[in-house]
Amino acid sequence: MTVSPRVMDSLLHAEKMNMIPYGPEGLLVHLDDVTRRLATPWQVCMIRARQLEECDLPDGMVIDPACGAGLQLAALSNVLGKEALGVDIDESRAGMAAANQQLISDFLGQQCNATIVAGDGTKAAEVLKLVSSENKYALFYFDPARPVGSTTHALDEMDPKLNIILDAWKPYLKHGETGPAMVLDLSPRLSSERRAEVEDLVDERWPGLDRTWQWASRGSGRIDRLSLWLGAAADSEHGRRFIRIPPDHFSEPLELKSVAHSFEEPPVQKIFPRKGNHLTILDSALVSSGMASTWLDGVLENEDRVDWQVTAGRRPIVTHGEPLRFGHELDSLLIQCTGMVVSLVRATLDENNLESIAEKAIDCGFNKMTLRTSLPPEVQPVLQRGLDRMLRRSSGTKSGFITRTGTDEHLLLCHEE
Ligand SMILES: C[S@@+](CC[C@H](N)C(=O)[O-])C[C@H]1O[C@@H](n2cnc3c(N)ncnc32)[C@H](O)[C@@H]1O
Repeated sequence: MTVSPRVMDSLLHAEKMNMIPYGPEGLLVHLDDVTRRLATPWQVCMIRARQLEECDLPDGMVIDPACGAGLQLAALSNVLGKEALGVDIDESRAGMAAANQQLISDFLGQQCNATIVAGDGTKAAEVLKLVSSENKYALFYFDPARPVGSTTHALDEMDPKLNIILDAWKPYLKHGETGPAMVLDLSPRLSSERRAEVEDLVDERWPGLDRTWQWASRGSGRIDRLSLWLGAAADSEHGRRFIRIPPDHFSEPLELKSVAHSFEEPPVQKIFPRKGNHLTILDSALVSSGMASTWLDGVLENEDRVDWQVTAGRRPIVTHGEPLRFGHELDSLLIQCTGMVVSLVRATLDENNLESIAEKAIDCGFNKMTLRTSLPPEVQPVLQRGLDRMLRRSSGTKSGFITRTGTDEHLLLCHEE
């Protein structure tokens, strides 16, 4: 059934409306606790819609066969000026999605042109009978539900399943010059093997379709969204891109692109940092997207050599000869910190050695040092407080950080830049 006007009307006038988490001021929508967790962050919704505005999409509607509360669908249909069809198997969620289409169109000052069906999105023919649309679909957007806390991120955990939904909608997708336009929203933790499985499913149905993988991050080392953009939605010249979502609603995102769509972790070099080297702890989301080398090429002198000290985990580390030079206002958000190595101390970071480490830091002119190395969560604040207290007697003015590369025994005292 499509969501009845009565259900929608009662929702539109219901008192219980919420701000979208991290959404713009003044936009209130319907979300319950579960849909809030499932919902696409609003900035991601809008950035994607604007990216698709740049693509040569055919005429026709947007279909989202598992639309949840419909946030991404509403952003797409309003920004692209396309009619929308959303389906969700959960009736109350479909109701929320229907009301949200109207609320979001009103907020964006657009005419709402959306139909929401409460039903099974894998039954394309049945859904289409209900909406009696002759239209073929210009854009297919799919964001399946996934189990919370999955460790495998296997494709058959997706609900609905990717192969089933692709088969169901394939006959109804309009082809532009480069095939149908599709965006598949996938688990942010998909391994390269799983990504290859997704590509195989696509190739079995549309051999050789253009594809661009997109990692999107709002910082703190997290990949918020990993999506595959296909056909007319893909960037035919780039197989991969990384989007750093800005911290506010007004700035432009930072976008990094790479030609190759697969990548390997950079090899760790056995060249230990030395005094005078510059050391950067990178944002781990940038590194897990495989785009760190592309970014480093842009913020370092051409001739500068980069040595990868740590490639995995929460604190990926590179050393380089010259300081970083930021060109984009969001460049500084792609690192955790950067500085020059001013001293190497051969010591374990523990309470017994803290005094001698502090002495060394004071000798180097530091009065503030942040511990940026893996420590048990109960130990880190104790050591940091101890160090803060000891550095109070310093007459120095420098601030910096203490880190360590891999299994090397030396602590690196770095002057923050
Ligand atoms: C991750 S959510 C979508 C979130 C949405 N993209 C947004 O921006 O708010 C996935 C949705 O798929 C729905 N779903 C699961 N199986 C389905 C099916 N067979 N047909 C339609 N919807 C389904 C779930 O009820 C859930 O609301």
